[in-house]
Amino acid sequence: MSKYEEVQKQLKQEPKVWLVTGVAGFIGSNLLETLLLLNQKVIGLDNFATGHQRNLDEVKSEVSAQQWHNFTFINGDIRNFDDCQQAFTINNLNVDYVLHQAALGSVPRSIADPILTNAANITGFVNMLTAAKDAKVATFVYAASSSTYGDHPALPKVEANIGKPLSPYAVTKYVNELYADVFNKTYGLNATGLRYFNVFGKRQDPDGAYAAVIPKWTAAMIDNQDLFVNGDGETSRDFCFIENAVQANILAATANEQGKNQIYNVALGDRTTLNELFSSLVAALNTNEVSYTKTAIYQEFRAGDVRHSQADISKAKKLIGYQPAYRIQQGINKAMPWYIKFLTKQTKKN
Ligand SMILES: NC(=O)c1ccc[n+]([C@@H]2O[C@H](COP(=O)([O-])OP(=O)(O)OC[C@H]3O[C@@H](n4cnc5c(N)ncnc54)[C@H](O)[C@@H]3O)[C@@H](O)[C@H]2O)c1
Repeated sequence: MSKYEEVQKQLKQEPKVWLVTGVAGFIGSNLLETLLLLNQKVIGLDNFATGHQRNLDEVKSEVSAQQWHNFTFINGDIRNFDDCQQAFTINNLNVDYVLHQAALGSVPRSIADPILTNAANITGFVNMLTAAKDAKVATFVYAASSSTYGDHPALPKVEANIGKPLSPYAVTKYVNELYADVFNKTYGLNATGLRYFNVFGKRQDPDGAYAAVIPKWTAAMIDNQDLFVNGDGETSRDFCFIENAVQANILAATANEQGKNQIYNVALGDRTTLNELFSSLVAALNTNEVSYTKTAIYQEFRAGDVRHSQADISKAKKLIGYQPAYRIQQGINKAMPWYIKFLTKQTKKN
């Protein structure tokens, strides 16, 4: 039995109380779904800045009525300390674990509006840390980011070796790590950061100027629209399927002493270029009888983007038993039917 299977079994036997911020977003709603399916009690906090009610509705349709009953939602803003405190006191539930996902993602958004990104990602983060230490939670797991590697040239990326941040977004995610460490040393809060590397999967938003590459390209391909590549297409990323990221969160929250208060890379340890990604998406669409007939259009490199990204995941494997179960093509194949269904529904609505 893998460590993850063992932990899931244990959680089913002894359900815990989880607080998931950013619960209406992509990663948050997937965490919610898995936790409810494990019969956990979940409090969710979101202000719908980039998340959607439809994500919560979809989770409701995936779980039993009894499991949905274990979910309490707060429409609140992490920039407001009272909202953060409320999340820990509502219904007298004692929160065991926090999975803090709420933040404004996207490098270009942070370049366009650094003040807004700073408020959600730093002020909101400190509010959540403070409310969590006051509530004496067992573990505070938070979404860190591979952008923290910044201009450090080494590949694969090892947690201890970081460079200078290349964007306001990357600064905020690095500051999160510094604050988490200080809250551990000063107040004894157990806080673990997960440096996500390009997570993808169902419910990742394909719309808007700041959409991530996989949902954005998939949407363009399904519609047979023009598709743009930033740079020469040889930029590479370590794309991580959502179910691997969910696994990492649950393992980090329930880790033993050795695994707590750490920073972990959450990825696969593979490197895929944008050109390879393009071909993988076309292949997965073909399997679903959707064909994309255009060729990619290459444009300028995007400001603030790092050229290559690939994780060394040995630390998470060793300390928390992380074993990513999906490689990139398996993840794409699993996510594709969801995108086809979602985007077809969206087209019919418009
Ligand atoms: N998706 C990735 O590849 C990736 C990579 C690195 C880090 N991350 C981090 O993971 C976390 C989740 O990202 P995601 O991809 O699910 O993005 P997302 O935009 O789908 O989810 C973020 C959620 O946070 C909510 N939120 C934003 N500001 C808030 C506020 N002030 N108060 C309350 N809720 C607020 C949004 O409404 C949204 O539901 C973020 O912290 C992001 O920076 C994601």
